[in-house]
Amino acid sequence: MPPSGNPFTPFDQIQNTPGLGKDERLCLSATVVAIEKGGRKIASLLRQGPILGITGSTDTKNIQGEEVQTMDQIAQNTFLTYFQQSGAVQALLSEESEFPALLPVRFSSPCLVAMDPLDGSSNLSVNASVGSIFAIFRPARDPRAGVPSDTELFNDSASGLFAACYLLYSVSTSLVLAINGEVHVYTLDPSTGEFVGNGTPVQFPDGGKIYSVNEAYYPSWEAPLQEYIQWVKTDRKPTMILRYIGALVGDFHRNLLKGGIYLYPPDASDRVKASGKLRLLYEAYPMAFIARAAGGMATDGHRPILEIRPNSYHQRIPLVVGPSDLIREFQSRIGAPVSS
Ligand code: AHG
Ligand code: MN
Ligand code: MN
Repeated sequence: MPPSGNPFTPFDQIQNTPGLGKDERLCLSATVVAIEKGGRKIASLLRQGPILGITGSTDTKNIQGEEVQTMDQIAQNTFLTYFQQSGAVQALLSEESEFPALLPVRFSSPCLVAMDPLDGSSNLSVNASVGSIFAIFRPARDPRAGVPSDTELFNDSASGLFAACYLLYSVSTSLVLAINGEVHVYTLDPSTGEFVGNGTPVQFPDGGKIYSVNEAYYPSWEAPLQEYIQWVKTDRKPTMILRYIGALVGDFHRNLLKGGIYLYPPDASDRVKASGKLRLLYEAYPMAFIARAAGGMATDGHRPILEIRPNSYHQRIPLVVGPSDLIREFQSRIGAPVSS
């Protein structure tokens, strides 16, 4: 609780962020309000999941060839509706649609949003954590110059990324928002519908000893990664422990609070995952942005994630993200250039 005694909210964080213009502040506030509305709705639906019959599959595949769960579609429609109503989002790219949707705009400096409306949706049928992820960009060109073509959207993305956010639906519902080098964690108070924080920015703790990776894929990793994983659990001092939920938001959140490295490496045995499984624009970028604001780093094994320019909307990328001490150690062990 901040000194005033009033709860600290995402609105307060946006108001207190230096360096935002008046229009940007308004637009970001409206965008985050849309995310909060969606978070409340999804959290409430998930609480009743099996009773409402919404934790199963639609028996269809999305454009990535992955099975679409009923909740993937509900989350997609929910956030699309709230972003449409906000008038603050010029274009919305989603995991669940092939091309960005162009939305009606009422603000003079609208933003672009890339989202994973429901992350880890295969966890739903077993009542485990899922999330929603958002990357928020300034458009590369002036929105008053008219509707941009598809290829002009999101192609300069990392340089325009100015906020990132995720919702974690678990025992409670968290909203984590990063802007301008500060990360705050908020909890949904179901009695008021408000997301409430304590006003203290979050940083990765030093000396974390968690690693999070799907080790079943060990045989198809490259040798340096295999050696690194062997080392962290045998010869490293102290040795590390494995925690893996199988949902990026849940795994990242635990690692943010406790200190841990998350890895989704390339999988040479799988054509689709040969360049990793996670998507650059709406999984790797936002987590890399939040990590950097919390004193961490993110790499694809060779380059900092936030220096990679996308070559397609749904580009996949290997992702290694966590506190700087663990990422530097990882880079030096696998012989990759160590980022500053
Ligand atoms: P999504 O449900 O949005 O497709 O994302 C699932 C992702 C990510 O959340 C998670 O970390 C990863 O898939 C787990 O993959 P594996 O089952 O291959 O470990
Ligand atoms: Mn996902
Ligand atoms: Mn998803």
